[in-house]
Amino acid sequence: MNSRRNFVKKTVIAGAGLSFLPNMSFGSVLGDSKDKLKLAFLGVGLRGCNHLNNALHRKDIEVTAICDIDPERIKIALKMIDDAGYAKPKVFGNSDYDYRNLLELKEVDAVIIATPWLWHTRMAVDSMKAGKYTGVEVSAANTLEECWDLVNTHEETGSHLMILENVNYRRDILAVLNMVKQNVFGETIHFRCGYQHDLRGVLFNDGKTAYGKGVEFGDEGISESKWRTNHNLLRNADVYPTHGIGPIAAMCDINRGNRFLSLTSHATKSRGLHKYIVDNGGENHPNAKLNFKIGDVITSTIETSNGETIIVTHDCSSPRPYSLGFRVQGVEGLWEVDGNRIYVEGKSKPHQWDAADEWLKKYDHPLWQKYGELATGAGHGGMDFFVLNAFVESAKENIAPPMDAYDAAAWSAITPLSELSIENNGEPQDFPDFTRGTWIKRKPYNWIKDTY
Ligand SMILES: NC(=O)c1ccc[n+]([C@@H]2O[C@H](COP(=O)([O-])OP(=O)(O)OC[C@H]3O[C@@H](n4cnc5c(N)ncnc54)[C@H](O)[C@@H]3O)[C@@H](O)[C@H]2O)c1
Repeated sequence: MNSRRNFVKKTVIAGAGLSFLPNMSFGSVLGDSKDKLKLAFLGVGLRGCNHLNNALHRKDIEVTAICDIDPERIKIALKMIDDAGYAKPKVFGNSDYDYRNLLELKEVDAVIIATPWLWHTRMAVDSMKAGKYTGVEVSAANTLEECWDLVNTHEETGSHLMILENVNYRRDILAVLNMVKQNVFGETIHFRCGYQHDLRGVLFNDGKTAYGKGVEFGDEGISESKWRTNHNLLRNADVYPTHGIGPIAAMCDINRGNRFLSLTSHATKSRGLHKYIVDNGGENHPNAKLNFKIGDVITSTIETSNGETIIVTHDCSSPRPYSLGFRVQGVEGLWEVDGNRIYVEGKSKPHQWDAADEWLKKYDHPLWQKYGELATGAGHGGMDFFVLNAFVESAKENIAPPMDAYDAAAWSAITPLSELSIENNGEPQDFPDFTRGTWIKRKPYNWIKDTY
């Protein structure tokens, strides 16, 4: 870590702290490797390769190791690395726990974890224990115990953990965050968000292509259907809360002067996944006999200590166009993503919506103004570029990331808490205070800057 600090000092002096290629053409520039952040990837499936691809466009990293238990994915990742002109990394993946051998390598500074959900916490804990700066995909944890494991390990080891929530870097989200911080909507009172994405073609496939064909999953499926679908079969919970709650938590400074207090959740009946199997595989298909536990629409309401409410929706089993359903409301106005509209008292015509575009342009975030062109094309409309940038820049300095272990725990806790609440007829569930009281004095993160 010390050598990394020295590296940062040197690069800052050289003015190279932000060392992106001048354009996002897919040719990599190889420079002197001695001071680069040494990155390793645990899981090089679809998401891992997306991060890998973006990392290979930077001049300030090298990929020193990769791990995946699927040899086909290793082949794909190695080809990407070779095509980008980088040296061959060390390869791991002979068994489920071979990643632990990777974590012993001295030539790994930082680790990006993009494996199935049940691996996230155990890999993140092992990585922090090995002294690596750790990035974990969403959600970070499945149970309250795992949420605590993340926090406890971060505190015991001093190793940093960043939850890699890319939606926090969406252009409209960062513009609205900018508006919130500049008090355009006045004191905040209410938020809505969620994951509303027809995932039926992801949860089921034919075992050969990841999207859109077939009704298989588990051992017969490929990519996410291999592991994600079982969570829907066995849990009645909001199993994927962070794309919605991450951006809102940043807007209302959760764990930094504010915190989640409690949650109530309700689930509709479960129909969509069964119907999809019958419609596409026939009623005699063996999967048509399964009873999926997850309700088609799960609605959770969170109360914060600052007196806001946040409605979080999980809606992934029905035909519907994608929307994260954001609404950000203060005492003087609000933004709604559906309808792309804003109303600000005294600025908008009374009782009439403004189209959001002009407002979002006016409050465009400094990061997007500076790097918008580079970011476009990096995946998910550019936000993947920024989330990786924040990770790499924080890791190079070995400083707390924008979204840390406490955030990972509080956001991911929605899954087990919603499950408990639904099981108990909507009974309120208290959030553990993962900061152990320090949320009172922790300062809000400075999101409004043009570095990362
Ligand atoms: N932030 C986003 O927008 C976004 C988008 C897609 C996926 N994700 C998240 O990324 C993660 C991965 O999703 P994906 O779509 O790439 O899934 P995937 O199934 O395509 O990839 C997961 C990879 O992990 C590997 N793996 C499984 N167990 C392993 C082990 N013990 N050791 C090493 N490798 C192992 C698998 O072989 C596979 O290649 C998930 O947590 C998912 O929720 C996030």
